[in-house]
Amino acid sequence: MNEMIHPIARLGSDVAAGLVGHQEMVERLLVALLAGGHVLIEGPPGIAKTRAVKRLAAYLPGSHARIQCTPDLLPADLTGTQVFRPETGAFEFVPGPLFHSLVLVDEINRAPPKVQSALLEAMAESQVTTSGVTRRLPDPFMVVATQNPIEHEGTFPLPEAQMDRFLLHLSLGLPEAEQERAILDLVAAERVAPAGPAADPLAVDTLHRARAEAAEVHLSPALKDYIVRLVMASRPGGAVAAFVEHAISPRGTLALAAAAQARAWLKGRDYALPEDVAALAPDALAHRLIPTWAAIGEGRTGRSLVADILAAVEPW
Ligand SMILES: Nc1ncnc2c1ncn2[C@@H]1O[C@H](COP(=O)(O)OP(=O)(O)O)[C@@H](O)[C@H]1O
Ligand SMILES: [Mg+2]
Repeated sequence: MNEMIHPIARLGSDVAAGLVGHQEMVERLLVALLAGGHVLIEGPPGIAKTRAVKRLAAYLPGSHARIQCTPDLLPADLTGTQVFRPETGAFEFVPGPLFHSLVLVDEINRAPPKVQSALLEAMAESQVTTSGVTRRLPDPFMVVATQNPIEHEGTFPLPEAQMDRFLLHLSLGLPEAEQERAILDLVAAERVAPAGPAADPLAVDTLHRARAEAAEVHLSPALKDYIVRLVMASRPGGAVAAFVEHAISPRGTLALAAAAQARAWLKGRDYALPEDVAALAPDALAHRLIPTWAAIGEGRTGRSLVADILAAVEPW
């Protein structure tokens, strides 16, 4: 991995090359890809969420699909349906858009609860059950969902208890003036010379090997202890317990450890550091921590509580 650029690092720069800024989003997408997790991206429309995921899809092995969520969507629109074939006189299963390696679920909070739970179940199990038959989803299988925070009319907020099916929850804002200028120039240049198809997508073996290596990245006992102390700070008796309605569960502990390992691997290390844990803690933990109503009234959020936890808990 020393003198040659690893194909996954190259994938990261290929995805980033078509974006102004968003280095953190690209890194997080790679972290989730390596850890085998799913990502929820929250942010206003028009900031290149779809663009980023489409670029990622272009360089990944396997097929991809996009699901635009609407209030009239049905679970079968995602999972697939039995269709009667008069020619054969039999029913045949026509797989839905979930049966792809990278699935972009746009505006997930516009999908009705039954669709959301079918999706979240598929994400947790990597399988889909329809009319009593269980079918495996492809490998790799990664969901990137987007959600628009300013839209409330006709939306169905994701159930808080199911948010934690996402390994990472990113929260993005609008770009600065300088970036807006760069976006103008980038899009103008592309109009003159449209980009061709992706050079060579990642081989599925390369991804599997990288995932195995990331899973073997060393977490020292002290670092594991740091992760646990961060999580425990949200539990009764912990630093922010007074503001917490629902504390972080073991799924959060596991998510943070896996994300930290993936980040360390991306940095070319076979051991994780406190900085890996601290860098990923907001995106790995904030959506698993529900503040009390009183705390929300005082302006606290999952994110601000994780920031408080990071300030209160020392790595060693
Ligand atoms: N940071 C950025 N880098 C490159 N292009 C951008 C950026 N922000 C916005 N754009 C451009 O704005 C348009 C909207 O992007 P899109 O991916 O559809 O946004 P979203 O999915 O967030 O609503 C696209 O044409 C994209 O090229
Ligand atoms: Mg979009």
